[in-house]
Amino acid sequence: MIIAGNWKMNCDSRQAIKLVNEIIKSNDIPIEANIMIFPPSILIPVIFPLIKNTKIKLGAQDCSLNDNGAYTGQISSDMILDAGCEYVILGHSERRSMCKETSSDVSLKSFKAISKGLNVIICIGESLKEREDNSFLSILETQLSSSLPQSIGSQIEVSDFQITIAYEPIWAIGSGKVATNENIEEVHKFIKNCLNDYFENSIKIPVIYGGSVNANNSSQILKLNSVDGVLVGGASLKSDDFIKIAKNSL
Ligand code: 13P
Repeated sequence: MIIAGNWKMNCDSRQAIKLVNEIIKSNDIPIEANIMIFPPSILIPVIFPLIKNTKIKLGAQDCSLNDNGAYTGQISSDMILDAGCEYVILGHSERRSMCKETSSDVSLKSFKAISKGLNVIICIGESLKEREDNSFLSILETQLSSSLPQSIGSQIEVSDFQITIAYEPIWAIGSGKVATNENIEEVHKFIKNCLNDYFENSIKIPVIYGGSVNANNSSQILKLNSVDGVLVGGASLKSDDFIKIAKNSL
């Protein structure tokens, strides 16, 4: 089970060190849990020395689709790898809405990140309007197919677990309004079917859920057949909650 914490733009270095140390020292995290943390990129060099001899994996919250050059404010896949990360989150709805990132940007970024050796968590999710007007499955299918790694004229070999899909309904993010078990199962099964169609050799692509996951609701979400883990925002900033979520993955 993947238990991933997306810290978004939170924590200074003192808070980050405290949070990570509390997670590392916990005896409650099951050995099987695949713990990943995604701090703001400026904190990655602070955290890497703490986690480097542990099972905790480190990732960035975005990467550039370029290798290097005049791209003020961006960080490249090589830089992310060099800082000790194995993962990058791409296409989070906050980046899609606030930074006007398109699925085609996400696709190019995922192509770049995978070709450099990073594992990617590609986020997709529908708005409340799309859920209510019942267009969400077709919206998700388009987002998924156009966000997967593609680059004109180039092919990419993808291996097991190199791609993870995070289903994060926008209306559930930070709202305290978690999707129902039925909502989650329906969409996760749909995503898995789509992935089986796209990848002939059916490589292993975990599908994880994100959106108001907390210490109380995580147990039932993590028990669902189609759920391979969770992507946690707010609750990943409190060590007790994050550890409890990991414990619930057993
Ligand atoms: P919350 O858990 O705060 O709703 O955030 C979810 C999320 O966006 C994780 O990427």
